[in-house]
Amino acid sequence: MQSHDTDRHPFLQGLSRHRGVPPTVIVIFGASGDLTARKLVPAIYNLGLDNLLPSDFYLIGFGRKAIQDEAFREMTQTDVQKYSRRPLHPEFWEHLSEKVLYHTGDYDQVEAYKALGERIDVIEKNLGRDIQLLFYISTPPTVFKPILENLGASGLAARHAGTALASKIIIEKPFGRDLDSAKGLNQVLRQQFQESQVFRIDHYLGKETVQDLLVQRFSNSIFEPIWNFRYVDCIQITVAEELGVGTRGGYYDQSGALRDMIQNHTMQLLSLVAMEPPVSLSPEDIRDEKVKLLKAIQPVDLRPEGGDVIRAHYTEGLVSGERVPGYTQEQGIPADSFTETYAAIRLFINNWRWQGVPIYLRSGKRMPRRVSEIAVQFKQPPGALFSDTARFDLAPNTMVMQIQPDEGTTLLINSKIPGLETRTQPVKMHFRYSTTFGSNTPEAYERLILDAMGGDGTLFIRGDETETSWGIFTPILDFWQSGGRRGLETYASGSWGPVAADRLLWERKHEWRRPGP
Ligand SMILES: NC(=O)c1ccc[n+]([C@@H]2O[C@H](COP(=O)([O-])OP(=O)(O)OC[C@H]3O[C@@H](n4cnc5c(N)ncnc54)[C@H](OP(=O)(O)O)[C@@H]3O)[C@@H](O)[C@H]2O)c1
Repeated sequence: MQSHDTDRHPFLQGLSRHRGVPPTVIVIFGASGDLTARKLVPAIYNLGLDNLLPSDFYLIGFGRKAIQDEAFREMTQTDVQKYSRRPLHPEFWEHLSEKVLYHTGDYDQVEAYKALGERIDVIEKNLGRDIQLLFYISTPPTVFKPILENLGASGLAARHAGTALASKIIIEKPFGRDLDSAKGLNQVLRQQFQESQVFRIDHYLGKETVQDLLVQRFSNSIFEPIWNFRYVDCIQITVAEELGVGTRGGYYDQSGALRDMIQNHTMQLLSLVAMEPPVSLSPEDIRDEKVKLLKAIQPVDLRPEGGDVIRAHYTEGLVSGERVPGYTQEQGIPADSFTETYAAIRLFINNWRWQGVPIYLRSGKRMPRRVSEIAVQFKQPPGALFSDTARFDLAPNTMVMQIQPDEGTTLLINSKIPGLETRTQPVKMHFRYSTTFGSNTPEAYERLILDAMGGDGTLFIRGDETETSWGIFTPILDFWQSGGRRGLETYASGSWGPVAADRLLWERKHEWRRPGP
């Protein structure tokens, strides 16, 4: 008989693997929502399966819908069955689900939070010990502020303040929609929490490849000496989606590619790939270097002719052989919308390491395939030996770190084609996580929830970091808003973006990569 994978896990023997996490209640605000179902509940379940949850652990869903504890347990069981990377283990689920509760209340009513506090008092009394609270705000951003204020007014935010059990809070993206709103949100947060209690999430930071960036850069002696303007010709960061706006058109039209992807995900990737070595691996040392890098980014040139920014939205086209509508034909999108579904930006980092090296960022919906990657393209050697282009097909050396799908690193080098003649061709050296380490690695949310429970903010965005990043992009958003449709390009669904975006690279003799396996 095939043995169950999880039978070996130590929860059955009462062993704890993760000693650093104190007893915890995770309270998810917006627990009847999509993110909770698809990511948060499966992540918590898988942490439990690996015995990484503390021995005293509770999950409380919070929301407006009247849901009984038992009904929420059934909902979460279905979530695990549908979305967990590992199957439901009945015995473990029975053990965990006893600790799953639901609390119904309005986000803007302090009484609901006080009543939640009373339920937590009962849990503590029954346990005979104090317990830390980790709030996970997984609602639409319109309710972030009332939740934060009521966590303060009810005393939940200040519970066990000054001790290792001080409350902590994870806050979902989007963190603001421009510099002013991000500052405003930070201000509300700081009224209730210390920065060390706040965990602003960008799930890209929980991905293996993203965490591996620092390891690959700083633990291998072959990369660091060439990781600078002397050897690097350009860096391209692509975050492409195959999907359109789907049923979330109303939300997306208020956001756009710059807010939804570039300001957060691509900037996280850029800061990790370009920052200086941190003094240590402590959260503050790493985040200090990320902020320093962001501060060195030059203001972008907004001129329509010859500037650094391109925006566009998709028109009808073919994606994976299927005809799909244009952006303004999508459900919930006004016909005169000028929200960009694609943005490309050329940045320069004004520091010793990166002076003059163009950084090209792009993100779009309805592209030929879903892919997120960082490509570091190196300068080509003097070509005297191999200048005959009929025989020698040469490409610049490029190191590609692919974040999704199919996480891994590829190095593009030139090689001789076997045969009696000397001919060359670019070839790829591949490292794939799934091949080397197996495919069942933890999901980003598992690592992030575990770190937040343990108070480790390394993989979360600090307040000054988010403000610095918004400071780079808010002038672009303001410029686009004031210009209406002026300068808005289009691209056919299923293409890699508007032709106009090629100009950003041609000006420096570069070309967009065609990302792929
Ligand atoms: N879904 C994803 O894949 C994803 C990915 C990355 C980031 N995020 C972020 O994670 C957060 C949650 O996303 P989600 O997709 O789970 O959201 P959602 O399903 O739209 O909403 C989550 C819950 O919040 C409550 N809610 C919804 N609209 C509300 C409103 N106008 N006022 C008050 N409460 C409202 C609802 O619960 P009740 O009615 O029961 O109160 C709802 O079930 C958002 O900030 C989103 O940007 C989501």
